[in-house]
Amino acid sequence: MIQTMKDFDFKNKKVLVRVDFNVPLNDDGDITEDERIMAAIPTMTFLLEKNAKVILMSHLGRPKGQVVEKLKMNKVAKKLSELLDKEVIKLDNCIGQEIKEKINEMKNKDIVLLENLRFHAEEESNDEEFAKELSSLGDVYVNDAFANCHRNHASMTTITKFLPSCAGFLVEEEVMILTKIMQNPEKPFIAIIGGAKPDKIDVIKNLLEIADKIVVGGVLANTFLKAMGANIGKSKFDLESVNCAKSLLLQSKGKIILPIDVFVADSIEKGENSRIAKIEKITDECMIGDIGSDSIALYKKTLKDSKTIVWSGPIGAFEFEKFAEGTNEIALFLSGLKAKVIIGGGDSAAAIKKLGLENKVSYISTGGGAFLQFLSGKELPAIKALQKESY
Ligand code: 3PG
Repeated sequence: MIQTMKDFDFKNKKVLVRVDFNVPLNDDGDITEDERIMAAIPTMTFLLEKNAKVILMSHLGRPKGQVVEKLKMNKVAKKLSELLDKEVIKLDNCIGQEIKEKINEMKNKDIVLLENLRFHAEEESNDEEFAKELSSLGDVYVNDAFANCHRNHASMTTITKFLPSCAGFLVEEEVMILTKIMQNPEKPFIAIIGGAKPDKIDVIKNLLEIADKIVVGGVLANTFLKAMGANIGKSKFDLESVNCAKSLLLQSKGKIILPIDVFVADSIEKGENSRIAKIEKITDECMIGDIGSDSIALYKKTLKDSKTIVWSGPIGAFEFEKFAEGTNEIALFLSGLKAKVIIGGGDSAAAIKKLGLENKVSYISTGGGAFLQFLSGKELPAIKALQKESY
């Protein structure tokens, strides 16, 4: 059991809230999607209504312990202030005497945002002293950063040693929804796993035990095709996962559904000489960019009667318009099904949003890596850290 915000009295308290405001930025450092900020608003609003002093902390990007101008939290603070219609005081560091003094000046219902935690290497190295320093800023710790719960970092795990801790509304909701899906899905339960991350093979391993079928796309499908002995030309695949993919195919009893035809080109970036090819007709010089029309039909047939679907990762190289059809067709198809559809990972969520279908699916998780780790059945360290009975 993890404690939730309902278990605490926040009145007059300095509440240190870990959020995941790791939002996508364009070349000018402007925020291109604010969903992760929006997702933490219920927790903030609740705390402000309870007369707390709200101290937010987050990482942004991967500055690797250096101060990187573009990754400062200023624009996030501005965006949050617009969304809350309230002043958000942005501080220039996340630890130190000056920060402590500023926090001690806070009044009830004030809200501050600390500077990017990852400007200090100690955040990612999970340094105990750093966690203690952070904890000294608050009376209570709330973790509302679901998308970062797979990271064993100072502000995510070790900090709970020093403060009474609980889950925020977003973490509570994500854990509840994903636990239910993984422990008791309404059947047939089908997973769609695509994209390029090599650790997705662990997800397939775990899902083989739970799901009725696993539809595979993206670079991951190439790895499985390679494992079957197919010629995949110059296509990307994950060499280290090929042996594991082979044994999963042997165990899978037909549960793993792979493309039967693909959309190939001489180069994915340029899209030259693009054509549909049956798997056995893929030639040495080409690269797989997407699934073909027969595969789209096969995937739809597989998904048609399911009651629960989870989807993580695009079906093809959907960032290139030419290779987006598989992903778009599946997204559209899912939006018309009666099944409970849960989507995670930035790219699959982006595909759904690009088509304006976000309200036609049951749930879009804020997690990418955290969502995957959940699907792979591995413990999320920051959730485990909240399970302690006392601090
Ligand atoms: C994410 O976007 O998945 C989280 O914010 C974690 O970011 P990271 O992959 O840079 O650790």
